[in-house]
Amino acid sequence: MAEKVGDEKIRIVKIHDGTVIDHIRAGKALEVLEILGITGKDGNVVSLAMNISSSKIGKKDIVKVEHRFLKEQEVARIAVVAPEATINHVEDYKIIKKIRVELPDVISDIFPCPNQRCVTNKEREPIRSKYEVISKNPMQLKCLYCWTIVEEQDIFKQFAR
Ligand code: CTP
Ligand code: ZN
Repeated sequence: MAEKVGDEKIRIVKIHDGTVIDHIRAGKALEVLEILGITGKDGNVVSLAMNISSSKIGKKDIVKVEHRFLKEQEVARIAVVAPEATINHVEDYKIIKKIRVELPDVISDIFPCPNQRCVTNKEREPIRSKYEVISKNPMQLKCLYCWTIVEEQDIFKQFAR
């Protein structure tokens, strides 16, 4: 399908093999690239469009990466910044698998709790972090160990730790 910008239909180049991450919340494409560690320096084709019209979610971003397939942990992280995203696995120009990311009510182990004193951050025998999703838009997560609320704008920073 062609993507629309204003009244213009545009077509971002199709990929031969790799991953198309579609229906990303508008403005979040750069965070998705960051989660995937994509800098553009490995020479692979990366296409990105931001704030394009979507019949489903108003405006959306889209990211296409050649020769790159996603790991489970990456999909889990994308679900937190882009809970409506679809991930299309492309081979030989065809979509061979399309998955909608899923945001479970409780998310385990995707990033460390921002509260340094939380038991999940203990240096010896740390417990795996666990959050309850208390709001999806804006995203708000509550640590189930120390009850710290992690706001949408702070989630992403935690990935880098
Ligand atoms: N796509 C691509 N390269 C391919 C095949 C598909 O870049 N070789 C992209 C399409 O441009 C589109 C996305 O993958 O952005 C999903 O493709 P498709 O399922 O055909 O489109 P829709 O039906 O619009 O998807 P959905 O139902 O998920 O909205
Ligand atoms: Zn905590």
